[in-house]
Amino acid sequence: MTGSQFGLGRLHADNVTLRYDERTISRNLSVAVPDGSFTVIVGPNACGKSTLLRALSRLLVPASGQVILDSRSISDLSAKDVARRLGLLPQSSIAPEGIAVADLVARGRYPHQSFFRQWSKADEESVIAAMEATRVTDLSGRLVDELSGGQRQRVWIAMVLAQETPILLLDEPTTFLDIAHQIELMDLLAELNRQGRTIVAVLHDLNHACRYASHLIAMKDGAIVAEGNPSAIVTERLVKDVFGLPSVIIPDPVSNTPLIVPKGRQVAPVVHLDTSARAGKERHRD
Ligand SMILES: Nc1ncnc2c1ncn2[C@@H]1O[C@H](COP(=O)(O)OP(=O)(O)OP(=O)(O)O)[C@@H](O)[C@H]1O
Ligand SMILES: [Mg+2]
Repeated sequence: MTGSQFGLGRLHADNVTLRYDERTISRNLSVAVPDGSFTVIVGPNACGKSTLLRALSRLLVPASGQVILDSRSISDLSAKDVARRLGLLPQSSIAPEGIAVADLVARGRYPHQSFFRQWSKADEESVIAAMEATRVTDLSGRLVDELSGGQRQRVWIAMVLAQETPILLLDEPTTFLDIAHQIELMDLLAELNRQGRTIVAVLHDLNHACRYASHLIAMKDGAIVAEGNPSAIVTERLVKDVFGLPSVIIPDPVSNTPLIVPKGRQVAPVVHLDTSARAGKERHRD
């Protein structure tokens, strides 16, 4: 299957070859992001997910082929023009030293400013809304360098949200987040998607991917192995082919989407030995 069967939307890569110097990561790859979709890209480490996201956001120029954004080659658009249409949360970012949270989030507004249009009330409102949505308002005066990993990740997400682009590309946005913040972020992205934004996220959690994606792309060795609705494409065979992982797939009891339960190497159930006296007493009481 290829992306083209879904109709080419605002953002697509046509026959791109992506490489770093002599190392080719993807050859003749075509990917179409369906407009209005919540697209999730999954695949093993080093298969080329971040490389694809970098190409889709103009950070990496394809060796051949092209990325099209709004019917134009993305390389013909200025960085600012791209940044008004598409926001990117990279896999890792380093904040300028000594910058405060609110100032970093405010940088998301840069693409909307010009010599003639300086900081406005609309900019202020976007920054406040983005910080509230990611629950970093209380941190606004703190230095980004001094935050925990999860707090810092939420600040970066706030910055991308403040950019207010119709398309959002997020590379492992749930990294560093505890389980509650992960779900909160996924729900926030789903809400933004319902409001009309196109979301593209790289995720390692297959169950989140199945629960939230309207369009799932499974990659391996720089190529697309399968794509489509998670319920249609996620099978034990696909998980084995892509990740080399034996699993059992059952319906997620909450969302009824595929829930991947890894088998791992363990065949027999683990017996936990607890030799403490207290545990013994409690067992006895039962
Ligand atoms: N700047 C770079 N220069 C050279 N090679 C690179 C560079 N960035 C990535 N690579 C290589 O490209 C390949 C794909 O990397 P990429 O970051 O796209 O993988 P990924 O699928 O995002 O993996 P992960 O799940 O670990 O984030 C890897 O072999 C990696 O070593
Ligand atoms: Mg990556």
